[in-house]
Amino acid sequence: MKKLFADRIEGLAQSDIRRMSLECAKVNGINLGQGICDQPIEPLIKQAATRAIAEDRSIYTRLDGIDELRQRIAKKVRDYNRIPCDPNGEVIVNVGSTGSFVTACMALVDPGDEVILFSPFYGYHLNILKVCQATLKFVTLRPPDWSYDPKALEAAFSAKTKFILVNTPSNPCGKVFTRDELTHIADLCLKHDALCVTDEIYEYILYDDRRHVSPGSLTGMQDRTITISGFSKTYAMTGWRLGYTIAPKHLADKLAILNDLINVCAPSPLQHGVVAAFDLPESYYTNMRRDYQVKRDMTVEACREAGMTPFPPQGAYYMLADFSDLGFKDDQEAARVILERCGVAVIPGSSFYVDPRDGRRQIRLCYAKKMPDLEEACRRIRALKSVPA
Ligand SMILES: Cc1ncc(COP(=O)(O)O)c(C=O)c1O
Repeated sequence: MKKLFADRIEGLAQSDIRRMSLECAKVNGINLGQGICDQPIEPLIKQAATRAIAEDRSIYTRLDGIDELRQRIAKKVRDYNRIPCDPNGEVIVNVGSTGSFVTACMALVDPGDEVILFSPFYGYHLNILKVCQATLKFVTLRPPDWSYDPKALEAAFSAKTKFILVNTPSNPCGKVFTRDELTHIADLCLKHDALCVTDEIYEYILYDDRRHVSPGSLTGMQDRTITISGFSKTYAMTGWRLGYTIAPKHLADKLAILNDLINVCAPSPLQHGVVAAFDLPESYYTNMRRDYQVKRDMTVEACREAGMTPFPPQGAYYMLADFSDLGFKDDQEAARVILERCGVAVIPGSSFYVDPRDGRRQIRLCYAKKMPDLEEACRRIRALKSVPA
């Protein structure tokens, strides 16, 4: 029989995240696995989208998105990210930030091109790069603060490096890259004529007064950085599938054409709806941060009381926790038993690492849940040791 599938999808399989969500649904458990983010959307955004549907704003948009949205995004990027940005030619509205990343990878990566990725990583980053047949070079982030060895980073760069992927704040470990780290990365990009692709989808979710720094704002980086962000996490609309890319014109032109080829455009009434997000007051963001900080602290405490060693995240809304003292054989067993005994789904840690041994003693928890659900999940996790095997 003829070979059915292309080499590029060799090894792709259902992720542990989706598997745990299915297992969780079977036992009607509380899902701290997938980053679903089940908060309600702000009424003003919903009303704007409903209005757009009622007004039949339903035809294809420009390939890089509607004018008003590109303008509001560009202003936000100039003010918050401190990246100079022209709404005409340097902003592309995509189908989710995932759409942004797919187009960036398709546009940049030839089979064998080297891409540098930090481990632990977000699985979609890894798999999309694999589908593009990139040669991956990994740099390990080490708990508890997720720092890395600067020498290892330097060694990962070569003449073949196409780009380094930064994810700040990061999923799954919650690392927020410091200005010093990003300056080092920028120096290496300049030295090796490499690009930086940066996923900043959690840019507003920061703890303990940390500041978000965008690599694209650093000296010399504007011309070689593709900044990816989106609306899914900040406005709790993961299913709306709206994200965007910021890139210098010479790169953005091609990314926009690919966006057109793959998606034609992002959903038009939702583009009109999400414009209203930019009218939210500053307090929206401070309240969101405060809310997630409370949830982070609750989850940290629950894991500690259960006998784990959590690594409190600096940003985003995921946490890795080490369960070595609980006596489970490995992370698969830990996730299975926690679901069985507590009815709480978590993700086995090894799925986030290039060397699965690095995550064999860890689980990942996502605390972007409604408060009553998270309180109940934390109560059950605290009681983990007292639940009979
Ligand atoms: C680091 C990271 N990037 C991107 C995404 C997906 O974002 P979007 O919904 O905009 O495609 C996620 C979702 O979990 C994520 O964790």
